[in-house]
Formats: sequence, structure tokens, C-alpha cells
Amino acid sequence: MYTQLQQRDSSRPPVTVATLARMKAEGEKIASLTCYDASYAVLVDEAGADVVLVGDSLGMVIQGHDTTVPVTLDHVVYHCRAVAKGLYRPFLMADMPFMTYTSRETALQNAVRLMQEGGAKMVKLEGGAGQVEIVEFLASHDIPVCAHLGLKPQSVHKTGGFRVQGREDAAAQRMKRDAKALEEAGADVILLECIPAALGAEITAELHAPVIGIGAGPDTDGQILVLYDVLDITPGRKPRFVQNFMKGHDSHSAALHAFVEAVKQRSYPAPEHCF
Ligand code: KIV
Repeated sequence: MYTQLQQRDSSRPPVTVATLARMKAEGEKIASLTCYDASYAVLVDEAGADVVLVGDSLGMVIQGHDTTVPVTLDHVVYHCRAVAKGLYRPFLMADMPFMTYTSRETALQNAVRLMQEGGAKMVKLEGGAGQVEIVEFLASHDIPVCAHLGLKPQSVHKTGGFRVQGREDAAAQRMKRDAKALEEAGADVILLECIPAALGAEITAELHAPVIGIGAGPDTDGQILVLYDVLDITPGRKPRFVQNFMKGHDSHSAALHAFVEAVKQRSYPAPEHCF
């Protein structure tokens, strides 16, 4: 059965996991942004973003914390529900916050909340080989999963800071093995944060699953940035991979269109944004 909603705008069919797989196969870049509320969700959708993430970065850009660690599942559910109201076409992904996927059962219960209450179509969790069992369990229940590798902000107190990951050969090899293992466990999308561009290119070439990068070089299948960085709202020093798209644009809407266009045309990220 098709609902009226699904037929609302058949010229812009909603993005699905199959769309993302097709985009990878055809070499069309996946433009992604984080979002935290319904009003910006409408603008991000109109700008042509393919994927929207309700990231636990909300702890930093909305709540004013120094890290994402204090964010709870209730916080992500609340923001996800608001974003879902404003979106029609983009694929909606939601972060599983710190310590909400410590066992298979907890992960499943929390992923279900993000989907049923928040309206998410995919959940994202941080981790390498240690998360294979969780990803496998979620995938066996048909929960779409994105696995986040490289810089893992939820581990910042263990790793000692927000630093580029995978620079040494052993760490790079481990990341490649982890990405493959997570894909084999059923991850539908891999997200790579803050790694050398060459490593981003290698992992992307080795995987069947679409790879979305943030500070992972120009060769990943897609790019994601934090909305408030794109719009130059975040105060203070920015990571090297951030581009202020408000430069040369007089509205948030124009800046968001420029971001999507730059990703699609491969002019973002430029060499100065890469490690
Ligand atoms: O929480 C977030 O916004 C993220 C992005 C940085 C990818 O995980």
C-alpha cells in the first residue's frame, strides 16, 4: 500500500539505503549534513542534502558541552523527532549516544526508540572490531546501521583529545580491517572521521557499502559536516576540514545550497581541508 505522503512529490522520491548504494555505484557524491530541529530540516531538505544526521554533536553545538559524552538517548530522540517533521526527501540517521549500545539487547532497545519515537531510518554507532557483534545483532533485526570509525568523539577521554586517527601504518591497517569486519557484520554505511585522505580513499575503494567522510579526504562516497560549522554559527577555532559556506552568501538557505553543490561537483573538500 502506498500512502498519500509517499506520493507527495514523486519527482523527489525519498532517499533509501538502496539510493545510497546506487549513488556509490554510479559515482554520485552523497551530500550530508547534521541537523537538530524542524526549521533547519526544511532548509537542508530544500538544499538537496541526501542524508541528514541527528548527531550527538548536539551536545556541543546545542547544549554547550565540551564533548558529546553528556548526551542521552532522550536528547537524541527529542531532536530526531523534530528533524523528522521537517524532512521529506533526505535519509534520516540518528546517533546512538555514549553507552547506549553496551550490550546487544540494550542496543536493540535503544535503536528501536530512535526509529519508532524519533523517526530515524538508520542508527549510527561509534566503534571498531569491538562493535561487530552489536552491528550483527542489529542487522539481524533489520535495523539499518552506520558504523563510525576514525576519530570517535565518544572516546575522547580515553584517547586524549580530538586528533587525526590512522596516521601510523598499524593503526591504518587496523582501521581497514575494522571497516571490512563491520561491513561483513551488516553495516550499511561506514562513516570515517578525521583520517588521512589516502586512508579514506583506500577504505572507500575496498568496501561495497557507501562511505561518508568528515575530514577523510575527497575520495569518500559522500561528505558530511556539522550544520553549524557550514553556517559559521559555531564560535571559536574550527577543525581544518571545515569550510564556512556563509562566505559569499547572504542567507542560510544559499549557503546550504552551496555546500550541496560543492560536494556534488567535488570542489569540497579542497586540498586545504585534508590531512
Ligand atoms: O555527531 C555528529 O555530528 C557526528 C558527525 C561529526 C559525523 O557524528
